[in-house]
Amino acid sequence: MSKQVTAPAVRARKGNGDPLVMVTAYDAPTARMVDEAGVDMILVGDSVAMVVLGYDDTLSVTTADMAHHVGAVARTKPRALVVGDLPWMSYHVSVEDTVRNAASLVRAGAQAVKLEGGRKRVKMIEAIVDAEIPVMGHIGLTPQSIHAMGGFKVQGKTVDAAMTLVEDAEALVEAGCFAIVLEGVPDAVARMVTDAVPVPTIGIGAGPHCDGQVLVFHDLTGMEDRITPKFVPRYASLKHDGTNAVARFVADVRTRQFPAPDESYHLADDVAEILGLYAGSAA
Ligand code: KIV
Repeated sequence: MSKQVTAPAVRARKGNGDPLVMVTAYDAPTARMVDEAGVDMILVGDSVAMVVLGYDDTLSVTTADMAHHVGAVARTKPRALVVGDLPWMSYHVSVEDTVRNAASLVRAGAQAVKLEGGRKRVKMIEAIVDAEIPVMGHIGLTPQSIHAMGGFKVQGKTVDAAMTLVEDAEALVEAGCFAIVLEGVPDAVARMVTDAVPVPTIGIGAGPHCDGQVLVFHDLTGMEDRITPKFVPRYASLKHDGTNAVARFVADVRTRQFPAPDESYHLADDVAEILGLYAGSAA
């Protein structure tokens, strides 16, 4: 059995040519699936808000919500590193609040936390790292900034914006991040950032030049089929297959095909006889 993945081990993978893989999970069965599939990291992302809890954006989930989902994933004791996403407003108010919120994800079972934003997050990242909690950064299209960005829009498309992303990534490294998610940026900009920093970049909608890739479980398995971002390959059709499975059950119940004799418990013939039942029909 291969070894438990740790934050230092992830950081050490920078530049070794072996891409890192991270996939989201928010519950125990999904955590078991992605861990058995061999991912390096499981992200308990605040995307849970959109793909599981039915919200239109990620802003409604709280630290308590995230701890609840982190706990479900961590209780499966995966080999992969469990990264807990700090939700919006959990690291924006004060350093004390930030460290306490990061600690509650760790107490729920996270081995690292992730937060969104560049240079303006340095103070908070330093405080979390100081509390011995590994931090993953996240820059580019940061969904918690949906209102400030004016929607889910590709970032870093101008010279200034590309340079700002590189500077933000460098600031995150300086603050102590062991890895950085790069979301929704042009592939050439992701390459600039990846070349500029000594920690792995994990891309989502950021092209092939990152040190690793992350996708949302519900997107890559087709459990979510309403929106298909350009960068998501569909490896399965879980929504379609699940709907078909339930539709077959509905039909079987309505046509009395279910439950069949093999799917029922039966009385012993002598008991049925004492009860005055026909052994054949009661069995
Ligand atoms: O919450 C999430 O799933 C994420 C990924 C998109 C990186 O932050």
